[in-house]
Amino acid sequence: MTAKQEWLTIAQDALTKTYVPYSHFSVGACLVTKEGKTYQGVNIENASYGLTNCAERTAIFKAVSEGEREFQHLIITGKTPEPISPCGACRQVMAEFCEPDMPVTLVGEHGVTKEMTVGELLPYSFSGKDL
Ligand code: THU
Repeated sequence: MTAKQEWLTIAQDALTKTYVPYSHFSVGACLVTKEGKTYQGVNIENASYGLTNCAERTAIFKAVSEGEREFQHLIITGKTPEPISPCGACRQVMAEFCEPDMPVTLVGEHGVTKEMTVGELLPYSFSGKDL
């Protein structure tokens, strides 16, 4: 199995761990550090809907809270007919911690995939450089 296939397996496995009693819409993620360590993320909902945390942000926050700062790849999976499209909030958080050329693999049902970069997902982004 290639490293990328392992990362995909981790992201798919996350779909079994989501907490989605309200939307029943599971999203999984696997964030990979430059050293090759993986962080799995799931979406975690709340009865106060706006407090929901998306899968990608869960993975990023898990990694950052462990001291990680350098990432090489993010895989996001969902059960959507097309490759899943990450929300705007997650794109902004990706842009905070990942280089614009970092690849992001978007995966939908039946393994349909789309390869993008952080910069393609959020062009002309607002960042710390603007402050
Ligand atoms: N969701 C994610 O986990 N990631 C995204 O990028 C899109 C949306 C979650 C949030 C919520 O639990 C469910 O999908 C429906 O919006």
